[in-house]
Amino acid sequence: MKQARGNIDLITPESCAEIDRWISNYPADQKQSAVMAALRILQDQNGGWLSHELMDAIAAYLDMPPIAVYEVATFYSMYRLEPCGRHKINVCTNISCLLCGSEEVVAHLQERLGIKLGETTADGKFTLSEVECLGACVGAPMMQVNRDYHERLTPETIDAILDSLQ
Ligand code: FES
Repeated sequence: MKQARGNIDLITPESCAEIDRWISNYPADQKQSAVMAALRILQDQNGGWLSHELMDAIAAYLDMPPIAVYEVATFYSMYRLEPCGRHKINVCTNISCLLCGSEEVVAHLQERLGIKLGETTADGKFTLSEVECLGACVGAPMMQVNRDYHERLTPETIDAILDSLQ
């Protein structure tokens, strides 16, 4: 198996401690099971996105092949592989949200922020993305802003949410 050669010095002591807590949840020979948590922790450490260097550092820290880390990071939409805004807005456009008005939600957000899906505002404050079902169909239409879910959206509630963010 190819050895990971990432630089674990890129991981702050605080992040190491948090990853170690996750590793302790698994058998000693299964520390790779902490990879999803480690990706989330380093994404937070890095202002919301993961560089290749950070993913390589995770591979080295968890003693796993870098490709295995990339596979996880590219599979799930909660991991970002490019720089993004301070606030990440993920709008669900899957079937329940679509039937309940997600097209209007997207249109309102695009109009209000002056950007298209997949873009970041010029001031670096918001990144707007389209995602698959986030498991909150009962509250459709919904969006996730950073870690918070917002449901039964209307133009008015969307404006209030955006206005509350620094
Ligand atoms: S379809 Fe939008 S949360 Fe499930």
